[in-house]
Amino acid sequence: MTDGTTVTIVLGTRPEIIKLAPVIDACEERGIAYSVVHTGQHYSEELDTVFFDQLELPTPDHNLGVGSGSQSEQTGAMIPAIEAVLLDEQPELVLVQGDTNSVLAGAIAASKLECEVGHVEAGLRSFDRSMPEEVNRVLADHAADYLFAPTEQAANYLHEEGIPDERVHITGNTIVDSVMGYRDLAAEKSAVLDELGLDAGEFCLLTAHRAENVDDRERFESLLDGVARFARESDLDVVYPVHPRAAERLAAFDIGMPAEITPIDSQDFLDFLRLESTATLVLTDSGGVQEETCILGTPCVTLRDNTERPETVDVGANRVIGIGPESIVAGAREALDSPNDWENPFGDGRSAERILDIANLGPTTSVEEVCG
Ligand code: UD1
Ligand code: UDP
Repeated sequence: MTDGTTVTIVLGTRPEIIKLAPVIDACEERGIAYSVVHTGQHYSEELDTVFFDQLELPTPDHNLGVGSGSQSEQTGAMIPAIEAVLLDEQPELVLVQGDTNSVLAGAIAASKLECEVGHVEAGLRSFDRSMPEEVNRVLADHAADYLFAPTEQAANYLHEEGIPDERVHITGNTIVDSVMGYRDLAAEKSAVLDELGLDAGEFCLLTAHRAENVDDRERFESLLDGVARFARESDLDVVYPVHPRAAERLAAFDIGMPAEITPIDSQDFLDFLRLESTATLVLTDSGGVQEETCILGTPCVTLRDNTERPETVDVGANRVIGIGPESIVAGAREALDSPNDWENPFGDGRSAERILDIANLGPTTSVEEVCG
């Protein structure tokens, strides 16, 4: 038990660790009494401890060890386990980030107790209710007392859903804090290009792990076929750090990796940032990767039918091109031929400070909300 905990941070997956790291660091710097609850949704070293080690985060105070399962099994197992910690710690505020099952479970457990809920990265919408992430983010937003929207667009969606304006705060996205904090270190320390035999500016980076793509054999094959065709046409190497979910599906469907795509292990944050920064083009179905490429100035195409990050498309950094082979070839070519002169729409890298200021945690800084 942590006596006198003010804020409990609930996380469970790779993107939450990366995007909450700046909030944890800011809590440390301000001397705030905080605790970290890890749901255990991600548990493999490559998705979990590697990030705690590299981002120098403290070991979570609680690891609930929930692990993998169906959507409801996983979410359902998390709720009472989080509740038990919250009943013990009695924090004033519970922070969750993003759209995973860990976020939904944290928001539900906290909202049923006498603690406030803060949702970091509130207000994102793909308007595709078939994705578990969309349901999670909508429900978490409606359970939250503090909605930390990364952009004005996200705040507008919340306004349109009738969420009172006083709950919504535009803070920027904490991913900017993380990227700014580690980009230079990645350039200095990462040897990933040499290790993989890649030359900066002469390769493409692929990530594909979303359930709607990799759990459907035809979609997964179509996506890989399109990327392979683009690789042949452009004569660019493609490296693909394979998420465990995708690895499991490749094996179960017995899909052979096209020769044009080199599968590699999931990368740690510094190596992945280095790959993103130096790639000619990134092809992805990840949410965080759409943001990071936009921040880093690398063109991106999104292998999905929609995005909850329309800001990346609006500034010209990203194109939503689906998973059809022809569309991938045409979209990737267009992205390569377009200028990379957009501005990052996700804030100035001080989002974590802003979030703590707004929640009245610790001594306030002079950081204003990004815009009103
Ligand atoms: C989850 C999120 C997704 C997010 C992704 C980040 C939900 C609904 N989905 O998807 O939004 O983009 O995390 O990476 O919350 N597995 C391992 N080791 C692990 C974790 C998972 O091998 O540490 C494998 C298991 O086979 C498991 C599968 O990956 O069944 C899926 O894991 P799960 O946590 O259910 O979803 P993700 O695909 O990781
Ligand atoms: N990432 C990483 N190594 C990889 C792939 C991704 O460190 O091999 C990081 C990436 O920099 C980003 C985050 O993981 O910060 C994105 O997570 P993911 O794509 O798993 O989830 P999503 O953002 O789609 O929810």
